[in-house]
Amino acid sequence: MLKSADTGLRAVPFPMDDPERVPAQRYYDPEFYQMELDHFWPHVWQMACRLEQIPDEGDWIEYSNVGKSIIIVNTGAGGIKAYHNACRHRGVPIAGMPKAGELGTADHGNCKQSGFVCPFHGWRFDMHGENTLVYGKQLFSEHQLQHADLNLVPCRTEIAIGAVWINFDNEAPSVRDSIGPLIDRLEAHNVHKLRTEWCFGTVLPANWKLAMEAFMEGYHVMKTHPQLYAATGNMYDDRYGSGHKRDPNEDAHVRKASAGATLREALDAQMLSMELLSEGMAGMLHAKEVEIARGLLNVEGLPEDVGQAIPMWYGMVANEITKQLQARGEPVPNLCEVMVSDPVNAVEFLFPHYFLLPYFSSYSAYRIRPLGPESCFFEIYSLTMFPEGEEPEPVMGATVLPYDSAEFPPIPRQDYSNIPINQIGLHAKGFEFMRLSKDVEGMISNYQRILDGYLAGVPQEKLAKANQLLGGNFDGKIHEFDF
Ligand code: FES
Ligand SMILES: [Fe+2]
Repeated sequence: MLKSADTGLRAVPFPMDDPERVPAQRYYDPEFYQMELDHFWPHVWQMACRLEQIPDEGDWIEYSNVGKSIIIVNTGAGGIKAYHNACRHRGVPIAGMPKAGELGTADHGNCKQSGFVCPFHGWRFDMHGENTLVYGKQLFSEHQLQHADLNLVPCRTEIAIGAVWINFDNEAPSVRDSIGPLIDRLEAHNVHKLRTEWCFGTVLPANWKLAMEAFMEGYHVMKTHPQLYAATGNMYDDRYGSGHKRDPNEDAHVRKASAGATLREALDAQMLSMELLSEGMAGMLHAKEVEIARGLLNVEGLPEDVGQAIPMWYGMVANEITKQLQARGEPVPNLCEVMVSDPVNAVEFLFPHYFLLPYFSSYSAYRIRPLGPESCFFEIYSLTMFPEGEEPEPVMGATVLPYDSAEFPPIPRQDYSNIPINQIGLHAKGFEFMRLSKDVEGMISNYQRILDGYLAGVPQEKLAKANQLLGGNFDGKIHEFDF
């Protein structure tokens, strides 16, 4: 596929010829990486900043990825503009660019009064990108001073789910056409009203795709997150391990939620699992929500049948969280209603490099940017809602830590422990390809084949349609595409 000269498509090195196999070189080959820089990143929508970071007129923030830098500006009255970060004189960035590995420290400020001043010779630009000063104008030939030609070069932007998205390609389908109905489902959950509580960033010595793929299935939970498996092992066994008989001595904690548990034991196991998730992510399932759930542990009227009682109890928890958080003034939607009308998965991947992990009303989010073929910058955001008017100051950058830092919440730290060694393993002699499960690792295959579509030059309308199938594809199946 994707390499015939007569279709007009580019040849892709190490293509996904078998949807169940990912060639190892895709994660380290310099030519493959260069193709991503040339044919992929310039055509996709990138989550560049959160709207809360530029709340007022004139507020701006810089966004860098793969050596390209963009300035995003709030121009007032709901307007957002973005510019390529290069002075029209000799190309010096007018906003500071972070060094590789420091992508969490985006430059930012307010340009309403001062505009932007180039640090080299002092040319000036206003928040609309218009050149307002050429120092020593008389020194330049007339044809060098065409006004429109002196303005900052604009970059396309769109707003969705409370974030500003940028795309270098004016012909690309819109964000909504690229990501699809998932955007509407997330907005039904009021994702655009979330605020960042904290953000950590780290450099992972791994290809950016490898880092992302550690979060595209739950099949790794049993071994990578044993504490979660121990709390509700039956849930994971039902989903991934049918046929596997667990040795009761294998893990002394695996017991309460297993078949035969009483309702009390099952509820305790659910509660423990929620606590572990909440502490393990330091958010996502927010401590305030765990507290509300705990208040319902002794609720009456649940059927004795555990299989019926647990989902019912979850519904009661969602209802109580809605009631209590709304009463505090938080913009929480009716969780029971939106879970039915606009269901979202435990992990939602927003192609190409952003993730949202919903639970009740709070979320975790990941954003991943390549630093080279075998290195990437990984950010984790904890997002939650606040009563209107009581929102905290926006978090303007990531606190950057080593990936094995004990300051990372335990669950991502466990995920991070696999990623760098996985990168090394890919180089082993005789390791030619990753072997994917067709049933639960489909998302990895799906987005990798869409990536090939970009590299080959498949029409973007087709790629956008394929992208839409990634929404809700966590733990999903391999899809067929018509390219
Ligand atoms: S490069 Fe900006 S003023 Fe010279
Ligand atoms: Fe994980």
